[in-house]
Amino acid sequence: MKYKVMTAEEAASLIQNGQRIAFSGFTPAGATKSVPKAIAAKAEKEHAAGRPFKIDVVTGASTGDSCDGVLARANAINFRAPYQSNADLRAGANSNPNSLNYADLHLSMVAQYMNYGFMGKFDWAIVEAADVSDDGEILLSTSVGIAPTGLRLAEKVIIELNEYHSKELRGFHDIYECENPPYRKPINILGAGDRIGTETVKIDPKKIVGIVMTNMADEVKPFKPTDPVTQKIGENVADFLAAELKCGRIPKEFLPIQSGVGNIANAVLGALGSNPEVPQFSMYSEVLQDSVVNLIEEGHIKYASATSLTVTPEKIQEIYSNPKFFREHIVLRPEEISNSPEVARRIGVISINTAIEVDLMGDVNSSHIMGKNLMNGIGGSGDFTRAAYISIYTCPSVAKSGAISAIVPLVSHCDHTEHSVDIVVTEQGVADLRCKSPMQRAEILIEKCAHPDYKDMLRSYLKSVPCGHTPQTLAKAFVMHEAFLAYKDMRKAAF
Ligand code: COA
Repeated sequence: MKYKVMTAEEAASLIQNGQRIAFSGFTPAGATKSVPKAIAAKAEKEHAAGRPFKIDVVTGASTGDSCDGVLARANAINFRAPYQSNADLRAGANSNPNSLNYADLHLSMVAQYMNYGFMGKFDWAIVEAADVSDDGEILLSTSVGIAPTGLRLAEKVIIELNEYHSKELRGFHDIYECENPPYRKPINILGAGDRIGTETVKIDPKKIVGIVMTNMADEVKPFKPTDPVTQKIGENVADFLAAELKCGRIPKEFLPIQSGVGNIANAVLGALGSNPEVPQFSMYSEVLQDSVVNLIEEGHIKYASATSLTVTPEKIQEIYSNPKFFREHIVLRPEEISNSPEVARRIGVISINTAIEVDLMGDVNSSHIMGKNLMNGIGGSGDFTRAAYISIYTCPSVAKSGAISAIVPLVSHCDHTEHSVDIVVTEQGVADLRCKSPMQRAEILIEKCAHPDYKDMLRSYLKSVPCGHTPQTLAKAFVMHEAFLAYKDMRKAAF
């Protein structure tokens, strides 16, 4: 190899206070695991010596603890975008928002913000790869995210060459970048399995300052076993889609599914796979998790398009032991393509994402607790919701052992408006909000989705609303939230 092989510490010594870095990674999949730890150690030393040291961190989405966690704990992050799910980073963004500036962005838009110059200059791209050639051809590992854009735009590049990942990953990726307007062309994807790009990212090899050798699995944790609530939510979604298919509102070929991450998403996919009325389908999504790999093997999923293979070490080894089979079923794309609203609208993606709370009009909060504290972020939920053939939101009807109702008079933070939300599903039932007026929506949400403990309270709220197009009264809209803040229980709210 013609590049300089260096230690993570040598790589970190090149990084200066105030620099902006595009890191690879979309979830822990394909995230750098070695250089960020060394940067965090450098930051701690600099702080101990009384010198400032912080960097701007832009990635595909969240990363693993070896990136977001270590950097947050070292107080080494000035700016972070577009998504995170790390407890320490979250704590920093909530407790010290002037010091850790977190920008929650639609994931499909990150590459174009970088290309348009909205994020400023990128000093470095630090990217995990499965292989790199002497002429600058980079085989990415288990995610694509914004790595191609970062590699192209950054002045200098450090590669973490991770020998844990198989070189058989060649052929899984489909790298295609959009040009900037007014020269952008249509993204020529007509089906989830279509390929329009290249297998690798090609850059000027002179930009590659060093290679850091690693051998580490992605930090992907297994899911909790399905519980009765998530199981019922999954079944409700599958039954709803099967009924839509039966009455012809979904074509007989079925349509591609986008599904969020987490335990509910896992249960939904499991329920879709085991529902005999749901035919073989494809995924046009951002994350592929273990359940998707199982459904591909069982023949329930034909093509799975995503930007990351967020699977456990056991599952990735299963894929590496049968690459020919999985290459025919899996495509990994840059997130501007995996999450493209243009493609999602054209191919008719059915989006399924998770809400923290939903209000009586159907507005959805996916990102904040009690109006102010960040949970994770919107991720790709907005990319798909607004463009979907049918947009679905799922959540348990209550949180914190029943002390919080997920159905509230007014969301305390709004990520997706009533105009984009078609269906809400809890373990209680399915609220079909399509083409309904605000008052009809409110009634359906209470009757179909609210927990029995909260139905009467929400009905009383609705009765107390003065005449108007939207069932809202500003004086009482947050009485349930205020009851939780005062008494740790929304059931103590009185209208
Ligand atoms: N008020 C306060 N806390 C709430 C709440 C509410 N209304 N609803 C849920 N929570 C809490 C839960 O109690 C739980 O807390 P814990 O971690 O202390 O146990 C936490 O939020 C997570 O909820 P959970 O029911 O376990 O669901 P989840 O792990 O599936 O996460 C989201 C739900 C919404 C946080 C998560 O899906 C997310 O970040 N979504 C936004 C990004 C997204 O949609 N990505 C996919 C796009 S492709």
